[in-house]
Amino acid sequence: MAVRAIRRMGDPLLWARAQEVSDISALADLVADMKDTMAALQGAGLAAPQIGVPLRVVLFGVSVNPRYPDAAAVPETILVNPVIEPLGEEQDEAWEGCLSVPGMRGLVPRHRRIRYRGFDIDGAMIDREVEGFHARVVQHECDHLDGILYPSRIRDLKFFGYESVLFPEGFAEQDA
Ligand code: NI
Repeated sequence: MAVRAIRRMGDPLLWARAQEVSDISALADLVADMKDTMAALQGAGLAAPQIGVPLRVVLFGVSVNPRYPDAAAVPETILVNPVIEPLGEEQDEAWEGCLSVPGMRGLVPRHRRIRYRGFDIDGAMIDREVEGFHARVVQHECDHLDGILYPSRIRDLKFFGYESVLFPEGFAEQDA
């Protein structure tokens, strides 16, 4: 398939709510392009609107990187029509980046534990309870489906800036 161009912040499509998928069997080409694009850009996640398709489809996954052995692995997952339910009141703040906001990092609060549900590419139900980085990536991707980019969630814009300034030694997590 193909590596697709990423829409960047400023594009109105990224601020729009994406539509529910009614026919999962029609998603094969889209999902193949999303996988190729995420792999080419070494992302941790990608939402269909980021490649210009306003449908409720997200892809995420992180394999253990030998350079960052403490970073948790997240299974590669396609999630169609996802629904998130926070578990408990606890929130974490951590640094995020986004393929649609290249070169930037921000400190973003997220629910620490969530349950998420949706469908895989074969129409089978996915239902998981997760926490930490896995929960963060899912929340970041599902925000894209509601037209929310992470800078909108930053509490203090002192903690938003260029990665090369904030982290001159480099940064572990991948964009999503
Ligand atoms: Ni993103």
